[in-house]
Amino acid sequence: MDIAVIGTGYVGLVAGACFADLGNKVICVDVNREKIELLKKGKSPIFEPGLDEMLDKNIKAGRISFTMDTADAVKRSQVIFIAVGTPQGENGESDLKYVEQAADTIGQALNGEKLIVNKSTVPVGTGSMVEQKVARHYKGKFHVVSNPEFLREGNAINDFLKPDRIVIGARDEKASRVMEEIYRPLGAKILFTDIESAELIKYGSNAMLATKISFINELALLCDNVDADIDAVAEGIGLDSRIGKAFLKAGCGWGGSCFPKDVKALIHTAKKYGVDLKIPRAAEEANKRQKLLPVKKLKARLKSLKGKKIAVLGLSFKPDTDDMREAPSVEIANALLKEGAKVSAYDPVAMREAEKILKGIVFAGSPYEALEGADALVLVTEWNEFREIDFERIKRIMKNPLIIDGRNIYDRKRLESIGFAYEGIGK
Ligand SMILES: NC(=O)c1ccc[n+]([C@@H]2O[C@H](COP(=O)([O-])OP(=O)(O)OC[C@H]3O[C@@H](n4cnc5c(N)ncnc54)[C@H](O)[C@@H]3O)[C@@H](O)[C@H]2O)c1
Repeated sequence: MDIAVIGTGYVGLVAGACFADLGNKVICVDVNREKIELLKKGKSPIFEPGLDEMLDKNIKAGRISFTMDTADAVKRSQVIFIAVGTPQGENGESDLKYVEQAADTIGQALNGEKLIVNKSTVPVGTGSMVEQKVARHYKGKFHVVSNPEFLREGNAINDFLKPDRIVIGARDEKASRVMEEIYRPLGAKILFTDIESAELIKYGSNAMLATKISFINELALLCDNVDADIDAVAEGIGLDSRIGKAFLKAGCGWGGSCFPKDVKALIHTAKKYGVDLKIPRAAEEANKRQKLLPVKKLKARLKSLKGKKIAVLGLSFKPDTDDMREAPSVEIANALLKEGAKVSAYDPVAMREAEKILKGIVFAGSPYEALEGADALVLVTEWNEFREIDFERIKRIMKNPLIIDGRNIYDRKRLESIGFAYEGIGK
C-alpha cells in the first residue's frame, strides 16, 4: 500500500519504518528540515534501538523516502497517517495546533477517496475536528480513522510489530477493512470501535498505567516508615491475576513525553464536560511528591546540601531513550541546585538532549567522573550500564559513600558490606 506518515518523531518514524518493513511504500513527512536532511542521509534523528538498521534496509529497498512536501506525499498515498506532536497546552489541555495544520494541508492536497488516520494521541472529538477541517477544502469522499499508538520508547519497534492490541476507530466498514489489511501481517488482536471510543482508549490506558505507578509509589512511602519491602509487597500484589505485575515498580516518579501530558489532557477534557476525574488528579499529585523524594532523602542524610557534590546517574526519563521530556532528573537536579548543591551528572545517551534543558550542572564523561569526590550518588534512570558499575572503585573515589537508589536496582546487603550507606524507595 502507498502510505504517507506526517510527523517523523518517535511514533511517526517508527511507524513509517515498520510499515515499510512490512512491504508498503512509505513517504515520511516532517516540517523540520534538519530531521529530513538527516533521514535522507539514512541517519535517524532519534535514538531508538534497531531503528537505524531498519531504516537502512528499507531505504536501500526503495520502500521508504523522506520529504518536507506534505501535499506531494498526500497525493501519492492511499492512506495518510497523522503522527505529529500533541504537546501540553497552557492550561493542561492537549495543544492541537500541529494536528490542525496537518489536517488543513491534507485537505488542500487531497485527490481521492483516501484514509486520514490519526495516530497522534488526541482528545475525544479530534476525529470530528479533522473531518470538518478536511471537508472545508475537499468536497469529495474521504475517511477519517482513529488509530492510537501504544509503543514505548526504547522498545518501540518491538511494541509496534508485536502489540497487545491494535485499536481502530472508524465510521464505516470500508475504512475498517483498509486498516485491517495494513495491520493483518502483524497477526495481532484488532479492536474495531467508533472514533470517539478509540480516542478515549489511549488516554484511559495511559492514565491507568500512571495511576498504577503512583499507587505503588505511595505504598512505598508507607513501606519506608514500617520497615516493609516494597518489592515484596508489589510482587505479592502483582501475583493476583486481576491486578497483574506490570507497572508496580516503585521509584522516583514517572515522566516522559506521554504520561504527564496525557493525564493532564484527560483531566482537562473531562472538566470541559463537567466531570471531575479525581483519581488521575491524585495520581498526578502523588507523582509530584515522588519526584522529589531522592532530594528529601538526601537532606535527611546529609542535613544541608549546600556545597555538597551530588552525582546524578541517568537523565533520560527511562532507560534506552534519549527523551528528556518531563524526566524526573530535571526536577531532582534543579531542586538540588536550589539547595546549593553542586550537581554532576552522567547519562549514556541523553546528555545532548539534557544539555538543552539542564543549566548549571556539570556533565561528566563517565559515571566515575561524575562520582569523583561526590557526597552522594543518586540513581535516577536504571540504565543497564549502572547495574554493572564497579562499586569498589566508586567507594574509593567518592568523598562520602552514600547511595540513593531511585529505581531500586541495587542490592542493599551487598552495598552495605562494601561500606556504603544505602537507601532505596520503600526498601
Ligand atoms: N513518544 C511516544 O512514546 C508516544 C507513544 C504513543 C503515542 N505518542 C503520541 O504520538 C504523537 C507523536 O509523538 P512523538 O513522540 O512521535 O512526537 P515528536 O515530537 O517526537 O514528533 C512529532 C514530529 O511531528 C513534526 N510535525 C509537527 N507538525 C508537523 C506538520 N504539520 N507536518 C509534518 N510534521 C510535523 C515535528 O517536527 C516532529 O518531528 C503524540 O501525540 C504523542 O502523544 C507518543
